[in-house]
Amino acid sequence: MGKIILANDGIAANAKAELESLGFVVDTNHYDGAELDAKIREVECIIIRSATKIREDLIDKAVGGNLKLMIRAGVGLDNIDVKYAESKGFVVRNTPFASSPAVAELAIAHMFSLARYIYISNVTMRNGEWNKKAYAGIELGGKTLGLIGFGRIARETAKKAIALGMKVIYTDIVGKSNLLPECKFASMNEVLANSDFLSLHIPFIKEVGTVIGEKEFAKMKDGIFIIDTARGKVVCEKALIDALDSGKVAAAALDVFEEEPTKNEAIYTHPKISLTPHIGAATVEAQDRIGIETVSVVKEVLL
Ligand code: MLT
Repeated sequence: MGKIILANDGIAANAKAELESLGFVVDTNHYDGAELDAKIREVECIIIRSATKIREDLIDKAVGGNLKLMIRAGVGLDNIDVKYAESKGFVVRNTPFASSPAVAELAIAHMFSLARYIYISNVTMRNGEWNKKAYAGIELGGKTLGLIGFGRIARETAKKAIALGMKVIYTDIVGKSNLLPECKFASMNEVLANSDFLSLHIPFIKEVGTVIGEKEFAKMKDGIFIIDTARGKVVCEKALIDALDSGKVAAAALDVFEEEPTKNEAIYTHPKISLTPHIGAATVEAQDRIGIETVSVVKEVLL
């Protein structure tokens, strides 16, 4: 039997077929608990999306087995204890290139949804309401989009926003970028104070914690719109609710949540929040590209 790759959270059909053509056996069953503890020793590579968590205890189970490579089919590596896995000799990789257009399109979709009350019209019309007067919106053109983080997804969002006539300012811990000179680098405080729309494009780092909390909301322009397609924990949900209720934040769009699936009723029933269930990368095209990128990592590391 060929070497086994476990795609524990599924894999695009194109990638599965290509891995099989390279001689791998691709197991697409989902294992948890003791079953996963055993499986992870058998396989050469484990590919996960966001559902499977690879924490220290699971990594310990893999030591001494066949496992060499862990691939996060996606961008965020927060569901793998990367440093610990690397310290035990495993190679850990993600697919940082594939999903940027999909996430950027979702961020822009949420901006339109907030600016024109699309999300809430869909709720109230189903209840038989006709709130034409209440839903006078604003245009994105001419507004300032602030980006927190200026990596691939943020830059893709910036390009689309510029095409819509928005001005783009950004802040990033690595400083000013040479890319997209039409976007203006600014400090975090300047971005908070000057953005009409604020979109987050940063990872959640445990040691850093929440990036947008009560203090940051206080520094924002009144009536700002917030979009989070990055990670739920970078925005404090309690502080967001307070800022929405006080009118500081006009409306917010969340694709990601402190806990997923979210159980925070104040969040998922709030009339000023547009919701999607962590679908930033969930397009046919992005999943195909993630598959291609995953295969190239397998080839590079295992062949
Ligand atoms: C990612 O990190 O790639 C995205 O959040 C997509 C996902 O995990 O589903």
